[in-house]
Amino acid sequence: MTSISSGASSLPKRVLIIRFSQTGQLDAVSDQILEPLLADPAIHVHVETLRPAQPFPFPWPFLDFLDAFPETAHMRPPPLAPLSLTGDEDFDLVILPYQVWYLAPSQPITAFLQHPVAARLLKGKPVVTVIGCRNMWLKAHEKLTSMLDSVGARLLDNVVLTDPGPTFATFITTPTWLLFGRKRGFWGMPDAGLDPAQIAGARRFGRALRDGLHSDAERGTQPLLAGLGAVVAEPRLYFGEKVGTRSFFLWGKLIMAVGRPGSAQRKPLLVTYVLFLATLIVTVLPISLGLQALLRPLFRGRLTKIKARFELPSGSANDRRHRYDS
Ligand SMILES: Cc1cc2nc3c(=O)[nH]c(=O)nc-3n(C[C@H](O)[C@H](O)[C@H](O)COP(=O)(O)O)c2cc1C
Repeated sequence: MTSISSGASSLPKRVLIIRFSQTGQLDAVSDQILEPLLADPAIHVHVETLRPAQPFPFPWPFLDFLDAFPETAHMRPPPLAPLSLTGDEDFDLVILPYQVWYLAPSQPITAFLQHPVAARLLKGKPVVTVIGCRNMWLKAHEKLTSMLDSVGARLLDNVVLTDPGPTFATFITTPTWLLFGRKRGFWGMPDAGLDPAQIAGARRFGRALRDGLHSDAERGTQPLLAGLGAVVAEPRLYFGEKVGTRSFFLWGKLIMAVGRPGSAQRKPLLVTYVLFLATLIVTVLPISLGLQALLRPLFRGRLTKIKARFELPSGSANDRRHRYDS
C-alpha cells in the first residue's frame, strides 16, 4: 500500500486508485491520470496495489498462460494478499484501471471486486474504469459493470485504451510479448501494447477528473470525461467475443472439473483446447468479420446500437480535448 497526500488541505477530496499491472503498462497509464491529481493540494490520493497471494508469472510459461483461462472465464480467481484498506474508509471517487484476460476482467481485479472490503468501499461510490488491453474488451466490460452493480457502485466514466496495431498483427505480437517478454515488433509488425503517445495522452483524463472534483461533479450523474475521446467501441468484434466467451466458459467448466489450477490432469485438455482455439481464431473471427462486412446494411442498426451502448457513459466525442490535451 502507498498513501500519497498531495499537500495540506482542510477538506481534501479523497480519491482511491486500485492498481495491478504485470508489465507496468497499466501502471504507466495510471501514473499519467494520477499526476494532475497528485499535484493538486486539494486532492488526496490513496493507491491500493493488488498483490495476488501467489503471483502470476511474467513472461508466462505457455501452459500456465493457458491454465489461467478457466478460472478467469468463470471469475473464480485465487485470493489476494491482504489489502491495506478495511472498508471503513470513505472516498469521493474510485479509479479502477483493469486489463482484460480471456475476454473477462483480469483475475486480480475480479478478486478485488469480489472481496468483502470492496463491497463496503464501493457502495454508492462513483467509479471511473480505465481499460488497457489488446482490443477485445466488450464482454469483459459487461462482466465488470455487473460486478459494480452487485456492490452498488456507480459507473461514472469508462476510458478504453487499446493496442493500435491491426487485429491480426496483435494476435501474434501480444502473445509474443506475454509469453517471451518481447515487446518490439518484428516482420514489419508494430510493437506490442499501447504506444507511448496513447499513454502520455491519458493525462487529459486526470486533468478533467481534477476539474470535475473541484466542482463536485463526481456527485452528479453526468460523466466527467465526456468530449475527451475516452472510448471508441468496435462493435464488429462483439459477435466474435460472444462466441469466444461461450467457448471459454464451456471448456473452462470441463477443465475445472478434471483438476485444480496447475494440476497435471488439466494439461492434455489445455493443449487440445489451444488447438481448437487457434482454429476458432483463424476461422470464426475472419468469417464473422467477413460476414458482417457483407451483411453490413442488414446489421447496421444493430451494430450502431452496440457501439452506442459500449461507448457509454463517457463517449467517443473529442470536443473538449483542446482544453485538456496539454
Ligand atoms: C492471460 C492473459 C489473457 C489476455 N486476454 C486478453 C483478451 O482477451 N483481450 C485483450 O484485449 N487483451 C488480453 N490480454 C492483454 C491484456 O489485457 C493486457 O493488455 C496486457 O496483459 C498488459 O497488461 P499489464 O498492464 O498487466 O501489463 C491478455 C493478457 C493476459 C496476461
